[in-house]
Amino acid sequence: MCGIVGYIGEQNSSEIIIDGLKKLEYRGYDSAGIAAIVDSNIVLQKKQGRIVNLEESLKNNPITSNISIGHTRWATHGVPSDENSHPHFNNDKTIAVVHNGIIENFAEIKNELLELGYSFSSETDTEVIPLLLDYYSKSNDNFYEVITKTLNKIDGSYALGIINTKYPDTIFCARKDSPLVIGKGENENFIASDVPAILKYTNKVYFLDNYEIGILTKDSIKIYDINNNEISKELSEIKWSIEQATKAGYPHFMLKEIFEQPESIKNTFKHYIKNNKVDFDYLNIDLNKIDSIYFIACGTAYNAALQGKYIFQKLAKIKTEVGIASEFRYSEPFLDEKSLVILVSQSGETLDTLAALRLAKSLGSKTLAITNVVGSSIAREADDVVYTYAGPEIAVASTKAYTTQVAIFYMLSLYFAEKKNLIDNEKYQYFIENFYAIPKKVQSILELNDEIKDIASTLLDNEHVFFLGRTLDYYLAQEAALKMKEVAYIHTEAFPSGELKHGTIALIEDGVPVISVLTQEALIHKSVSNIKEVKSRGARTLSISFEKHKDLLAESTDLFIPIPNIDDIFAGFLSIIPLQLLAYYTSALKGIDVDKPRNLAKSVTVE
Ligand code: AGP
Repeated sequence: MCGIVGYIGEQNSSEIIIDGLKKLEYRGYDSAGIAAIVDSNIVLQKKQGRIVNLEESLKNNPITSNISIGHTRWATHGVPSDENSHPHFNNDKTIAVVHNGIIENFAEIKNELLELGYSFSSETDTEVIPLLLDYYSKSNDNFYEVITKTLNKIDGSYALGIINTKYPDTIFCARKDSPLVIGKGENENFIASDVPAILKYTNKVYFLDNYEIGILTKDSIKIYDINNNEISKELSEIKWSIEQATKAGYPHFMLKEIFEQPESIKNTFKHYIKNNKVDFDYLNIDLNKIDSIYFIACGTAYNAALQGKYIFQKLAKIKTEVGIASEFRYSEPFLDEKSLVILVSQSGETLDTLAALRLAKSLGSKTLAITNVVGSSIAREADDVVYTYAGPEIAVASTKAYTTQVAIFYMLSLYFAEKKNLIDNEKYQYFIENFYAIPKKVQSILELNDEIKDIASTLLDNEHVFFLGRTLDYYLAQEAALKMKEVAYIHTEAFPSGELKHGTIALIEDGVPVISVLTQEALIHKSVSNIKEVKSRGARTLSISFEKHKDLLAESTDLFIPIPNIDDIFAGFLSIIPLQLLAYYTSALKGIDVDKPRNLAKSVTVE
C-alpha cells in the first residue's frame, strides 16, 4: 500500500525517483508525486493516475536536484487526485513528507492543528505529519527531536521520508509497521519501501525496524531509536539481481512469474533438501509441545494454506486449522502455548497477518513465518522463519509465491511425519523423488501456453465463471477463482462439486463456463457425474485432469487440459498452472493492465 523512495547524492534525483517509483508501482498506482530541494526551496509535482503522468509532467517541467523524495499512492483517506497525492507539506512549503501507512488518530490531530491556525490542502491522514513537524519546529531547533515528538503524537502505521529546507543535504526517514529500507551507495544513499526500487544502484541495505529513525546525507547514514540512542545495524547484502526484478522480455510480470515456477519450485526444494533428507533442524519447534497448528494468511496465501492443512493432516497427522487473518483475529481463537501458528505471507508485510502473529504471540503460542521477503516484518517478528525461494514477485496477482509456499508445506509435513515416526524410509524417499520430478512436470504444462491462450479467448465476454472441485481440487478451484476475479474482472465462484446441487446449480444456464479440477482418484467418478449435471443444464465445460483420464472425461467435458500423471497427493503443484495461465490470458486479451489490476495493491498494509 503506497511506495516511497528517496535519493540524496550527486546525480539528478528526479530520474532516480521515477525509476524507483516504477519498481514500486505494484504497491499502488492511484497517483504519484515528487518533492525536491532546489535553491533552498521545496519544489513539488504531483499527478493523479499512473507514474507515467508524473513522468510526463517532469519532462515538461524538469526538476534538477540532488535530493528528492517520491511516492506512489494507493488511496485510503481521500479520493485519488492531485491534491491528495503525496508529498504533503507544511503551510509555508519548507517541509515535505511521503508516507506509507495510516495515521489512525489523524482526525483529532487535524482538529487541534486547525485550532492552532493551520490550514489543510488535502483530505489525507498524512497531511497532519508535515504540519506537526512544522508546529514542533517552532519551539525546537533539533529536527530529530521534532520528528520523535511527532512520532509520539501519531498512532497507526508509517514509513516516512522527510525533507526540510533547513537541512538541504539530509533525508530523514522513520518506520512503524510499514516497510522501509535504507540503501547505502557510494557518495549517495537511498530510502525505499522495497529493495527493487533501488537495486539498480546498490545491493547493500539496512532494514529499518519499528520506531527507528534514519538520517541520511550523501556520505553518511545514521540510525537512531526513538530515545536518541544511535543504533549500529547490520548491513544486509541482497543476493538477487535486478534482472530478476525486470520483465526479461515477457509482456507482463505475471506471465514471467508463471513461467519461473519450474525454477522457483526447484530452488525452494533444493534449499531445504540435503542428501535426500528434508532439513528443518534449525527450527526451534518441539512437536511434543504442540497439539494443534493454525495456518493464518490472506488471499492467495490463504488458498495455499488450505493445501497446507490438507498435507499436514494427511501426512503429519496433526490437527490443523486454516484462518483468514482478518477474521481469525476477532474470532477469540483457542490459542495457547501448545499451538503452533504458521503465518503465510508472500510480502511478509500484510497487516492483518502481522496482527494475527502478534495476537498469537501475546497468547503464548509458538509462531512460524513462511514468507518470500527476507527482513520483512512478519519474518522478523515470528519466533522462526522459513523462506520461500520464489525470487521477487512483482505482479499484483501472486503465482510463484503460491507454488513455493505449497512446496514448503509439503517439505515441512514430511519433516514432521518423520519426526513423529509416521513414515518409513521407502515412503519418505518416494516423496523426495516426487518433489524432484515436479519442476519438469510444471515445465511441460507451460508448453500448453498457446492452447490455453485459445481457451482464454472464449471466456472474454462471460460475466460469470464457475470452478468446481472436491477436497484438494476444491482448494485449487478457490485459488483459480481468485486469480480470474482479480486480473480478468470476471465474477467467479468456486464450489465443492458435491455441494453444487444444494443451491448453486440454480445459477447454471446456457453457455456459462464451468471449469472443473479432477485429480483426486477416489472421487473422480463422482466429480465426472457433477460435470454431467452442469453440462446437461447448458454449461460449457472445461476440465483439468491427468492425461490418463482424457477418455474418461471425453463425454462430459467440452474442453480438456491435460496435466502430467502424478500421484494425486501432489496434483496441486500441477493443476494450478493452467488455471494461472487461463486467468492471465483472459486478462491480457481483454486489454487489462494485468500486473496492476484496478483497486488492488501487492502489499496490503492496511486493515
Ligand atoms: C494474490 O493474487 C492477491 N493479490 C492477494 O490475495 C495476496 O495473496 C494477499 O494480499 C496476501 O498477500 P501476502 O501473501 O503478501 O500476505
